[in-house]
Amino acid sequence: MANIQDLPKYNHHLITEMMTMMSENEKNNLEQQLGTLDLDEIKALYEEVYVNRHVEVPAGEVTDVVTEVKDEMTAERVQELETLGLEAIQAGKFAALLMAGGQGTRLAHKGPKGTFSFDGMSLFEMQASQLKTLNNQLNITIQWFIMTSDINHDETVDFFTNNLYFGYPESAVTFFKQPNIVALSPSGELLLNEGSTLLTAPNGNGGVFEAMAATGIYDAMTEHGITHVYLNNIDNVLVKVLDPVLCGLAVESGSDVTTKTIAPLEGESVGRVIMANGKKRVMEYTELPEGMENTFNNANIGIHIFRLDFLREASLKQLPYHLAIKNLAQLDDDFEVVKKETLKFEKFYFDIFQHAETFSTLQVERAAEFSPLKNKEGKDSIETARQALKDNGVL
Ligand code: UD1
Repeated sequence: MANIQDLPKYNHHLITEMMTMMSENEKNNLEQQLGTLDLDEIKALYEEVYVNRHVEVPAGEVTDVVTEVKDEMTAERVQELETLGLEAIQAGKFAALLMAGGQGTRLAHKGPKGTFSFDGMSLFEMQASQLKTLNNQLNITIQWFIMTSDINHDETVDFFTNNLYFGYPESAVTFFKQPNIVALSPSGELLLNEGSTLLTAPNGNGGVFEAMAATGIYDAMTEHGITHVYLNNIDNVLVKVLDPVLCGLAVESGSDVTTKTIAPLEGESVGRVIMANGKKRVMEYTELPEGMENTFNNANIGIHIFRLDFLREASLKQLPYHLAIKNLAQLDDDFEVVKKETLKFEKFYFDIFQHAETFSTLQVERAAEFSPLKNKEGKDSIETARQALKDNGVL
Protein backbone atom coordinates (compact mmCIF):
# COMPACT_ATOMS: atom_id res chain seq x y z
CA MET A 1 0.00 0.00 0.00
CA ALA A 2 1.04 3.58 -0.34
CA ASN A 3 4.08 4.07 1.81
CA ILE A 4 4.07 7.34 3.57
CA GLN A 5 7.86 7.58 3.24
CA ASP A 6 7.45 7.92 -0.52
CA LEU A 7 4.69 10.44 -0.38
CA PRO A 8 3.37 12.65 -1.93
CA LYS A 9 3.35 9.83 -4.52
CA TYR A 10 0.88 7.31 -3.22
CA ASN A 11 1.32 4.84 -6.10
CA HIS A 12 3.44 2.48 -4.09
CA HIS A 13 3.54 -0.89 -5.82
CA LEU A 14 1.22 -2.62 -3.35
CA ILE A 15 -1.65 -0.22 -3.66
CA THR A 16 -1.12 -0.14 -7.42
CA GLU A 17 -1.18 -3.93 -7.44
CA MET A 18 -4.33 -4.03 -5.36
CA MET A 19 -5.90 -1.46 -7.64
CA THR A 20 -5.43 -3.77 -10.61
CA MET A 21 -7.71 -6.24 -8.86
CA MET A 22 -10.43 -3.70 -8.11
CA SER A 23 -13.50 -2.92 -10.14
CA GLU A 24 -13.51 0.36 -12.10
CA ASN A 25 -15.92 1.75 -9.58
CA GLU A 26 -13.79 0.81 -6.56
CA LYS A 27 -10.69 2.19 -8.23
CA ASN A 28 -12.37 5.50 -9.00
CA ASN A 29 -13.66 5.82 -5.47
CA LEU A 30 -10.25 5.10 -4.02
CA GLU A 31 -8.51 7.51 -6.36
CA GLN A 32 -10.98 10.19 -5.46
CA GLN A 33 -10.39 9.57 -1.76
CA LEU A 34 -6.62 9.63 -2.21
CA GLY A 35 -6.92 12.86 -4.13
CA THR A 36 -8.51 14.64 -1.17
CA LEU A 37 -5.68 13.77 1.22
CA ASP A 38 -2.99 16.20 2.17
CA LEU A 39 -0.23 13.63 2.04
CA ASP A 40 2.51 15.98 3.26
CA GLU A 41 0.42 16.70 6.31
CA ILE A 42 -0.14 13.00 6.97
CA LYS A 43 3.56 12.32 6.61
CA ALA A 44 4.38 15.10 9.10
CA LEU A 45 1.77 13.76 11.51
CA TYR A 46 3.16 10.22 11.29
CA GLU A 47 6.66 11.46 11.99
CA GLU A 48 5.74 13.76 14.82
CA VAL A 49 3.19 11.63 16.63
CA TYR A 50 4.52 8.13 15.98
CA VAL A 51 8.17 8.14 14.89
CA ASN A 52 9.27 10.89 17.29
CA ARG A 53 6.51 10.05 19.80
CA HIS A 54 6.15 13.71 20.51
CA VAL A 55 4.17 14.25 23.70
CA GLU A 56 4.02 17.75 25.03
CA VAL A 57 4.96 17.68 28.70
CA PRO A 58 3.98 20.81 30.59
CA ALA A 59 6.93 23.08 31.16
CA GLY A 60 7.41 25.55 33.99
CA GLU A 61 5.46 25.47 37.18
CA VAL A 62 2.98 22.61 37.33
CA THR A 63 0.53 22.62 40.22
CA ASP A 64 -2.84 21.28 41.23
CA VAL A 65 -5.71 23.28 39.86
CA VAL A 66 -7.43 25.56 42.37
CA THR A 67 -10.92 24.21 43.02
CA GLU A 68 -13.97 24.98 44.99
CA VAL A 69 -14.94 21.78 46.80
CA LYS A 70 -18.67 21.22 46.84
CA ASP A 71 -18.64 19.27 50.10
CA GLU A 72 -16.87 22.13 51.84
CA MET A 73 -19.34 24.77 50.68
CA THR A 74 -22.08 26.00 52.97
CA ALA A 75 -25.63 25.04 52.05
CA GLU A 76 -26.27 28.73 51.29
CA ARG A 77 -23.40 28.85 48.80
CA VAL A 78 -24.61 25.73 46.99
CA GLN A 79 -28.13 27.16 46.93
CA GLU A 80 -26.86 30.47 45.58
CA LEU A 81 -25.02 28.79 42.71
CA GLU A 82 -27.95 26.50 41.98
CA THR A 83 -30.37 29.43 41.77
CA LEU A 84 -28.00 31.34 39.50
CA GLY A 85 -27.60 28.28 37.29
CA LEU A 86 -31.32 27.57 37.07
CA GLU A 87 -32.06 31.19 36.16
CA ALA A 88 -29.51 31.07 33.34
CA ILE A 89 -30.79 27.70 32.09
CA GLN A 90 -34.34 29.06 32.18
CA ALA A 91 -33.22 32.10 30.21
CA GLY A 92 -32.04 29.70 27.48
CA LYS A 93 -28.36 30.48 27.96
CA PHE A 94 -27.17 26.86 28.19
CA ALA A 95 -26.97 24.21 25.49
CA ALA A 96 -26.22 20.58 26.25
CA LEU A 97 -23.53 18.98 24.12
CA LEU A 98 -23.03 15.24 24.25
CA MET A 99 -19.91 13.66 22.75
CA ALA A 100 -20.91 10.25 21.46
CA GLY A 101 -18.68 9.67 18.47
CA GLY A 102 -16.36 7.16 20.13
CA GLN A 103 -16.03 3.47 19.38
CA GLY A 104 -16.42 2.08 22.88
CA THR A 105 -14.43 -0.99 21.88
CA ARG A 106 -13.51 -1.94 25.47
CA LEU A 107 -17.17 -2.49 26.37
CA ALA A 108 -17.68 -4.99 23.52
CA HIS A 109 -21.27 -3.79 23.06
CA LYS A 110 -22.70 -4.01 19.56
CA GLY A 111 -23.79 -0.54 18.52
CA PRO A 112 -23.16 2.96 19.85
CA LYS A 113 -22.31 3.04 23.56
CA GLY A 114 -25.33 5.24 24.25
CA THR A 115 -27.60 2.38 23.22
CA PHE A 116 -26.33 0.23 26.10
CA SER A 117 -29.21 -0.31 28.51
CA PHE A 118 -29.68 -0.98 32.20
CA ASP A 119 -33.07 -2.58 32.85
CA GLY A 120 -34.39 -1.24 29.57
CA MET A 121 -33.08 2.31 30.10
CA SER A 122 -30.32 3.24 27.64
CA LEU A 123 -27.52 5.69 28.40
CA PHE A 124 -29.03 8.04 25.79
CA GLU A 125 -32.40 7.87 27.52
CA MET A 126 -30.85 8.57 30.93
CA GLN A 127 -29.42 11.84 29.63
CA ALA A 128 -32.60 12.73 27.71
CA SER A 129 -34.73 12.22 30.78
CA GLN A 130 -32.58 14.58 32.87
CA LEU A 131 -33.02 17.30 30.25
CA LYS A 132 -36.75 16.58 30.07
CA THR A 133 -37.01 17.03 33.83
CA LEU A 134 -35.30 20.43 33.58
CA ASN A 135 -37.55 21.41 30.65
CA ASN A 136 -40.65 20.57 32.67
CA GLN A 137 -39.39 22.23 35.83
CA LEU A 138 -38.45 25.46 34.04
CA ASN A 139 -41.02 25.42 31.26
CA ILE A 140 -38.41 25.68 28.51
CA THR A 141 -36.86 23.50 25.79
CA ILE A 142 -33.13 23.01 26.12
CA GLN A 143 -31.25 22.61 22.84
CA TRP A 144 -29.40 19.29 22.80
CA PHE A 145 -26.46 18.78 20.44
CA ILE A 146 -25.13 15.27 19.94
CA MET A 147 -21.83 14.52 18.25
CA THR A 148 -21.63 11.23 16.39
CA SER A 149 -19.11 9.91 13.88
CA ASP A 150 -19.12 7.93 10.65
CA ILE A 151 -18.97 4.69 12.61
CA ASN A 152 -22.17 5.26 14.59
CA HIS A 153 -24.16 8.16 13.16
CA ASP A 154 -26.90 6.22 11.38
CA GLU A 155 -27.35 3.73 14.20
CA THR A 156 -27.56 6.58 16.72
CA VAL A 157 -30.17 8.52 14.78
CA ASP A 158 -32.16 5.32 14.14
CA PHE A 159 -32.09 4.52 17.85
CA PHE A 160 -33.51 7.94 18.70
CA THR A 161 -36.12 7.64 15.96
CA ASN A 162 -37.19 4.13 16.95
CA ASN A 163 -37.54 5.27 20.54
CA LEU A 164 -39.45 8.43 19.58
CA TYR A 165 -36.57 10.51 20.90
CA PHE A 166 -37.46 9.26 24.40
CA GLY A 167 -40.17 11.89 24.43
CA TYR A 168 -37.69 14.72 23.86
CA PRO A 169 -38.82 17.37 21.35
CA GLU A 170 -37.16 16.22 18.12
CA SER A 171 -36.73 19.75 16.82
CA ALA A 172 -34.52 20.56 19.82
CA VAL A 173 -32.05 17.72 19.07
CA THR A 174 -29.23 18.32 16.58
CA PHE A 175 -26.93 15.51 15.53
CA PHE A 176 -23.64 16.40 13.91
CA LYS A 177 -20.74 14.29 12.77
CA GLN A 178 -17.10 14.71 13.73
CA PRO A 179 -14.44 14.31 11.01
CA ASN A 180 -12.52 11.14 10.24
CA ILE A 181 -8.79 10.88 9.63
CA VAL A 182 -6.77 8.13 7.95
CA ALA A 183 -5.36 5.36 10.10
CA LEU A 184 -1.88 4.05 9.26
CA SER A 185 0.13 0.87 9.64
CA PRO A 186 3.09 1.12 12.07
CA SER A 187 5.37 1.51 9.04
CA GLY A 188 3.37 4.47 7.84
CA GLU A 189 1.27 2.90 5.09
CA LEU A 190 -2.18 3.96 4.18
CA LEU A 191 -4.57 1.05 4.66
CA LEU A 192 -7.68 -0.25 2.97
CA ASN A 193 -11.00 -0.96 4.59
CA GLU A 194 -13.68 -3.35 3.43
CA GLY A 195 -15.17 -2.05 0.20
CA SER A 196 -11.64 -1.02 -0.86
CA THR A 197 -11.96 2.44 0.62
CA LEU A 198 -9.17 3.99 2.68
CA LEU A 199 -9.20 2.98 6.32
CA THR A 200 -10.17 6.00 8.36
CA ALA A 201 -11.32 6.52 11.95
CA PRO A 202 -12.96 9.31 13.97
CA ASN A 203 -10.36 11.98 14.75
CA GLY A 204 -10.86 11.95 18.52
CA ASN A 205 -13.29 13.96 20.62
CA GLY A 206 -11.21 17.10 20.00
CA GLY A 207 -12.79 17.04 16.53
CA VAL A 208 -15.87 18.47 18.21
CA PHE A 209 -15.01 22.14 17.82
CA GLU A 210 -14.14 22.06 14.11
CA ALA A 211 -17.24 19.91 13.50
CA MET A 212 -19.40 22.52 15.24
CA ALA A 213 -17.94 25.23 13.02
CA ALA A 214 -18.32 23.15 9.86
CA THR A 215 -21.97 22.36 10.57
CA GLY A 216 -22.99 25.90 11.55
CA ILE A 217 -23.62 25.05 15.18
CA TYR A 218 -21.99 28.15 16.64
CA ASP A 219 -24.33 30.30 14.56
CA ALA A 220 -27.34 28.17 15.46
CA MET A 221 -26.46 28.46 19.15
CA THR A 222 -26.09 32.23 18.91
CA GLU A 223 -29.47 32.48 17.19
CA HIS A 224 -31.00 30.58 20.09
CA GLY A 225 -29.45 33.08 22.54
CA ILE A 226 -27.11 30.46 23.97
CA THR A 227 -24.02 31.80 25.74
CA HIS A 228 -22.66 28.64 27.38
CA VAL A 229 -22.06 25.09 26.18
CA TYR A 230 -22.24 22.25 28.72
CA LEU A 231 -20.22 19.34 27.38
CA ASN A 232 -20.24 15.78 28.68
CA ASN A 233 -19.32 12.20 27.81
CA ILE A 234 -21.79 9.44 27.06
CA ASP A 235 -20.45 6.84 29.44
CA ASN A 236 -20.60 8.32 32.95
CA VAL A 237 -23.84 6.81 34.20
CA LEU A 238 -23.97 9.34 37.06
CA VAL A 239 -23.42 12.42 34.91
CA LYS A 240 -25.59 15.38 35.85
CA VAL A 241 -26.48 16.91 32.53
CA LEU A 242 -26.70 20.68 32.96
CA ASP A 243 -25.99 20.52 36.67
CA PRO A 244 -27.37 23.88 37.89
CA VAL A 245 -24.61 24.25 40.49
CA LEU A 246 -21.84 24.01 37.88
CA CYS A 247 -23.86 26.25 35.54
CA GLY A 248 -24.12 28.77 38.39
CA LEU A 249 -20.36 28.73 38.87
CA ALA A 250 -19.80 29.30 35.15
CA VAL A 251 -22.18 32.27 35.13
CA GLU A 252 -20.89 33.78 38.36
CA SER A 253 -17.23 33.47 37.36
CA GLY A 254 -17.69 34.34 33.69
CA SER A 255 -14.82 31.92 33.03
CA ASP A 256 -13.98 30.71 29.56
CA VAL A 257 -13.80 27.14 30.91
CA THR A 258 -15.54 25.74 34.00
CA THR A 259 -14.71 22.14 34.91
CA LYS A 260 -16.07 19.55 37.28
CA THR A 261 -13.54 17.16 38.82
CA ILE A 262 -13.29 14.40 41.42
CA ALA A 263 -10.34 13.22 43.49
CA PRO A 264 -8.60 10.45 41.50
CA LEU A 265 -7.83 7.02 42.91
CA GLU A 266 -4.26 5.77 42.88
CA GLY A 267 -3.23 4.84 39.34
CA GLU A 268 -6.74 5.47 37.99
CA SER A 269 -7.19 5.72 34.21
CA VAL A 270 -8.40 9.29 34.21
CA GLY A 271 -6.84 12.49 32.96
CA ARG A 272 -5.44 14.84 35.64
CA VAL A 273 -6.60 18.44 35.66
CA ILE A 274 -3.63 20.66 36.49
CA MET A 275 -2.32 24.19 36.12
CA ALA A 276 0.83 24.69 34.06
CA ASN A 277 2.18 28.18 33.54
CA GLY A 278 -1.07 29.77 34.60
CA LYS A 279 -3.20 27.69 32.24
CA LYS A 280 -5.53 24.89 33.11
CA ARG A 281 -4.86 21.70 31.20
CA VAL A 282 -5.57 18.00 31.29
CA MET A 283 -2.71 15.55 31.23
CA GLU A 284 -4.23 12.43 29.75
CA TYR A 285 -3.72 9.20 31.65
CA THR A 286 -2.13 7.57 28.63
CA GLU A 287 0.53 10.29 28.56
CA LEU A 288 1.22 10.93 32.25
CA PRO A 289 4.96 11.26 32.78
CA GLU A 290 6.33 8.52 35.01
CA GLY A 291 6.21 9.42 38.67
CA MET A 292 3.37 11.89 38.16
CA GLU A 293 0.54 9.33 38.35
CA ASN A 294 -0.30 10.06 41.94
CA THR A 295 0.76 13.66 42.21
CA PHE A 296 -2.43 15.50 41.38
CA ASN A 297 -5.75 15.69 43.14
CA ASN A 298 -8.23 16.42 40.39
CA ALA A 299 -9.42 13.95 37.79
CA ASN A 300 -11.04 14.87 34.51
CA ILE A 301 -14.53 13.35 34.36
CA GLY A 302 -15.42 14.88 31.03
CA ILE A 303 -17.77 17.58 32.29
CA HIS A 304 -16.99 21.14 31.24
CA ILE A 305 -18.78 24.37 30.48
CA PHE A 306 -17.39 26.65 27.78
CA ARG A 307 -18.35 30.21 27.03
CA LEU A 308 -19.69 30.10 23.49
CA ASP A 309 -17.73 33.17 22.36
CA PHE A 310 -14.53 31.60 23.58
CA LEU A 311 -15.27 28.34 21.73
CA ARG A 312 -16.17 30.02 18.48
CA GLU A 313 -12.85 31.84 18.37
CA ALA A 314 -10.69 29.02 19.72
CA SER A 315 -12.18 26.54 17.26
CA LEU A 316 -10.23 28.31 14.51
CA LYS A 317 -6.97 27.15 16.09
CA GLN A 318 -5.54 23.73 15.33
CA LEU A 319 -5.47 21.20 18.16
CA PRO A 320 -2.60 18.70 18.25
CA TYR A 321 -3.03 15.01 17.47
CA HIS A 322 -2.22 12.26 19.97
CA LEU A 323 -1.39 8.63 19.22
CA ALA A 324 -3.65 5.68 19.95
CA ILE A 325 -2.66 2.17 18.90
CA LYS A 326 -5.69 -0.04 18.33
CA ASN A 327 -6.48 -3.35 16.69
CA LEU A 328 -8.50 -2.36 13.64
CA ALA A 329 -10.08 -4.50 10.93
CA GLN A 330 -8.59 -3.88 7.48
CA LEU A 331 -7.83 -5.61 4.18
CA ASP A 332 -4.58 -7.47 3.73
CA ASP A 333 -2.83 -7.81 0.36
CA ASP A 334 -5.14 -10.70 -0.53
CA PHE A 335 -8.23 -8.62 0.17
CA GLU A 336 -8.93 -10.67 3.30
CA VAL A 337 -10.28 -8.84 6.34
CA VAL A 338 -7.75 -9.05 9.18
CA LYS A 339 -7.37 -7.27 12.51
CA LYS A 340 -4.00 -5.61 12.97
CA GLU A 341 -2.27 -3.13 15.18
CA THR A 342 -3.00 0.24 13.64
CA LEU A 343 -2.06 3.84 14.35
CA LYS A 344 -5.02 6.11 15.11
CA PHE A 345 -4.66 9.84 15.44
CA GLU A 346 -6.87 11.55 17.98
CA LYS A 347 -7.46 15.10 19.06
CA PHE A 348 -8.46 15.68 22.69
CA TYR A 349 -11.12 18.34 23.30
CA PHE A 350 -9.37 19.60 26.43
CA ASP A 351 -6.36 20.80 24.43
CA ILE A 352 -8.54 23.82 23.67
CA PHE A 353 -7.98 24.94 27.29
CA GLN A 354 -4.60 26.39 26.26
CA HIS A 355 -6.45 29.12 24.37
CA ALA A 356 -8.57 30.11 27.36
CA GLU A 357 -7.75 32.94 29.74
CA THR A 358 -10.03 32.24 32.68
CA PHE A 359 -10.89 29.00 34.44
CA SER A 360 -13.06 27.77 37.30
CA THR A 361 -13.17 24.33 38.80
CA LEU A 362 -15.55 22.51 41.12
CA GLN A 363 -14.55 19.27 42.82
CA VAL A 364 -17.45 16.96 43.62
CA GLU A 365 -18.02 13.61 45.33
CA ARG A 366 -17.24 10.56 43.21
CA ALA A 367 -20.00 8.40 44.72
CA ALA A 368 -22.73 10.73 43.52
CA GLU A 369 -21.28 11.91 40.21
CA PHE A 370 -18.84 9.55 38.52
CA SER A 371 -19.17 5.95 37.44
CA PRO A 372 -17.93 5.44 33.90
CA LEU A 373 -18.97 2.47 31.83
CA LYS A 374 -15.79 1.50 30.04
CA ASN A 375 -15.33 -2.26 30.34
CA LYS A 376 -17.43 -5.39 30.18
CA GLU A 377 -16.01 -6.66 33.46
CA GLY A 378 -13.86 -5.52 36.37
CA LYS A 379 -13.09 -1.86 36.91
CA ASP A 380 -15.48 0.74 35.47
CA SER A 381 -17.70 -2.05 34.20
CA ILE A 382 -21.33 -2.96 33.69
CA GLU A 383 -21.43 -4.28 37.23
CA THR A 384 -19.86 -1.22 38.90
CA ALA A 385 -22.08 1.14 36.87
CA ARG A 386 -25.20 -0.84 37.80
CA GLN A 387 -24.24 -0.68 41.46
CA ALA A 388 -23.66 3.08 41.24
CA LEU A 389 -27.07 3.56 39.61
CA LYS A 390 -28.67 1.51 42.39
CA ASP A 391 -26.79 3.38 45.12
CA ASN A 392 -28.07 6.65 43.68
CA GLY A 393 -31.64 5.47 43.37
CA VAL A 394 -31.70 5.52 39.58
CA LEU A 395 -32.36 1.78 39.29
C1 UD1 B 1 -11.88 10.32 28.73
C2 UD1 B 1 -10.94 11.50 28.94
C3 UD1 B 1 -10.18 11.32 30.25
C4 UD1 B 1 -11.20 11.20 31.38
C5 UD1 B 1 -12.17 10.06 31.11
C6 UD1 B 1 -13.28 10.04 32.16
C7 UD1 B 1 -10.48 12.19 26.66
C8 UD1 B 1 -9.48 12.28 25.58
N1 UD1 B 1 -10.06 11.58 27.81
O1 UD1 B 1 -11.07 9.16 28.61
O2 UD1 B 1 -9.32 12.42 30.49
O3 UD1 B 1 -10.52 10.99 32.60
O4 UD1 B 1 -12.79 10.23 29.81
O5 UD1 B 1 -14.17 9.02 31.91
O6 UD1 B 1 -11.58 12.68 26.55
N2 UD1 B 1 -15.52 10.44 21.76
C9 UD1 B 1 -16.00 10.99 20.60
N3 UD1 B 1 -15.23 10.88 19.49
C10 UD1 B 1 -14.03 10.25 19.45
C11 UD1 B 1 -13.55 9.67 20.64
C12 UD1 B 1 -14.32 9.78 21.79
O7 UD1 B 1 -17.09 11.58 20.59
O8 UD1 B 1 -13.40 10.20 18.40
C13 UD1 B 1 -16.34 10.58 22.97
C14 UD1 B 1 -16.79 9.23 23.54
O9 UD1 B 1 -17.95 8.79 22.87
C15 UD1 B 1 -16.98 9.58 25.00
C16 UD1 B 1 -15.91 10.66 25.25
O10 UD1 B 1 -15.57 11.18 23.97
O11 UD1 B 1 -18.25 10.12 25.25
C17 UD1 B 1 -14.68 10.16 25.98
O12 UD1 B 1 -14.01 9.26 25.13
P1 UD1 B 1 -13.37 7.90 25.62
O13 UD1 B 1 -12.73 7.24 24.50
O14 UD1 B 1 -14.39 7.18 26.42
O15 UD1 B 1 -12.22 8.49 26.55
P2 UD1 B 1 -11.53 7.84 27.82
O16 UD1 B 1 -10.31 7.14 27.40
O17 UD1 B 1 -12.50 7.10 28.62
